[in-house]
Amino acid sequence: MYLGLDLGTSGVKALLIDGEQNIVGTTTAPLDVSRPHPGWSEQDPAEWIRALEEAVAALNVAHPAEMAAVKGIGLSGQMHGATLLDRSDKPLRPSILWNDTRSYKEAAELDADPRFRRITGNIVFPGFTAPKLNWVRNNEPEVFARTAKVLLPKDFLRLWLTGEHISEMSDAAGTAWLDVQNRRWSAELLAATLLEEGHMPALVEGTQRAGVLRAELASQWGMDHDVVIAGGAGDNAASACGVGTVKPGAAFVSLGTSGVLFASNDAYLPNPESAVHTFCHALPGTWHQMGVILSATDSLNWLAGVTGHKAGELTGELGDELKAPTGVVFLPYLSGERTPHNDAVIRGGFIGLSHQTDRAALTRAVLEGVAFAFRDSLEALRQAGTELSRVTSIGGGSRSGYWLKVIATALNLPVEVPAEGDFGAAFGAARLGLIAAEDADPIAVCTPPEISSAIDPDTKLLPAFEDAYCRYRGLYPAIRGVSL
Ligand code: XUL
Repeated sequence: MYLGLDLGTSGVKALLIDGEQNIVGTTTAPLDVSRPHPGWSEQDPAEWIRALEEAVAALNVAHPAEMAAVKGIGLSGQMHGATLLDRSDKPLRPSILWNDTRSYKEAAELDADPRFRRITGNIVFPGFTAPKLNWVRNNEPEVFARTAKVLLPKDFLRLWLTGEHISEMSDAAGTAWLDVQNRRWSAELLAATLLEEGHMPALVEGTQRAGVLRAELASQWGMDHDVVIAGGAGDNAASACGVGTVKPGAAFVSLGTSGVLFASNDAYLPNPESAVHTFCHALPGTWHQMGVILSATDSLNWLAGVTGHKAGELTGELGDELKAPTGVVFLPYLSGERTPHNDAVIRGGFIGLSHQTDRAALTRAVLEGVAFAFRDSLEALRQAGTELSRVTSIGGGSRSGYWLKVIATALNLPVEVPAEGDFGAAFGAARLGLIAAEDADPIAVCTPPEISSAIDPDTKLLPAFEDAYCRYRGLYPAIRGVSL
């Protein structure tokens, strides 16, 4: 048995698989995000541990015998979060999350230093870890002075699970301190933010062993005392392992809190000008590119909150048949945007409202706006030299068949839907746990799922969607100048 633990933004998920990769059980424990000021997004690391314990305890109640047979654990998690620890490994403040944009000035300063793009292959986005440390240094100097270690969210879970400070390449690539081509910390970039390698965890590949479960926890959870913890991966690379996006040409679209269009590469292909992210993959010697939008299901959940109807009710009232855009356009920039704009200040909007605009029209505009943001990422990937021929859909939002039709037509690409199953980050993490514990061949383990259906672009509606996308493209520059 192998356990995957995924620290998401909205909850911790625990997923148990057997040696044939059948899912034995899965549980989730919810998490809240605290937004004390505009642009801020934080979580208390103690809450992560609370949710982890809750998710594992529930799995233990449901499957005690199987949990006792766990040999390997893989970790996955929301990327980029700055978790600052003092000398005794105590968090000094709430973790500053991936969609927190308070450090946009610090990010622009670092990005203006050509060494960052040259060594990391990426723009220094405000959501990345390094600019957050500069923000802390500028605004909370006493916290900065006491910072002994900087950990990414899932690596804080590892510290609690194993007592060790270890990270791996895929997540480390999102810090803006990693030499992404050579897969090692850059002493030069760390020094540029007044830090040293000693502030960072040791690095392994995602498939390697990275600690053993503490004896006390193993006893408490009824497990053996030699349970291996794998390096694991940032949630996007972990999802890629789950859905078999590990070879060149393979790609997925993820409809989670964030939206990700992810392509696997066997070489390091940086293109920061396009605002594409180029990171190490979880498998040794591989990399990936991705466009990241900050509010995917977050946009629909926002509409659900203001209309007082659940997200499923809103998409449910659209019916099955794809319709042409109504003329109402939604810009999903609720927390600013990464790909392609790298703009922390921009905010979202509805444009083109009329007396005829009803709730369903707003829902359609939100689904279309997110799909057009993915189209922007597709164009950015093209600019970075990567052409996609199809994408596999994953993430909570992909339960809406209507949304997948919108995406297929907005991207003009077939969207493949995996057959029954759960191929997200927790499953990918469990696979990494299996690989590390058994020394298994990663490519043999990380196979793609069976596809139940392929949603083709609606050729009749392609021109209408293309027109709507052109209007969408024109709106960002138009509202940029009048944003607060
Ligand atoms: C990737 C990113 C998000 C988070 C979500 O760069 O910021 O996809 O990993 O958990």
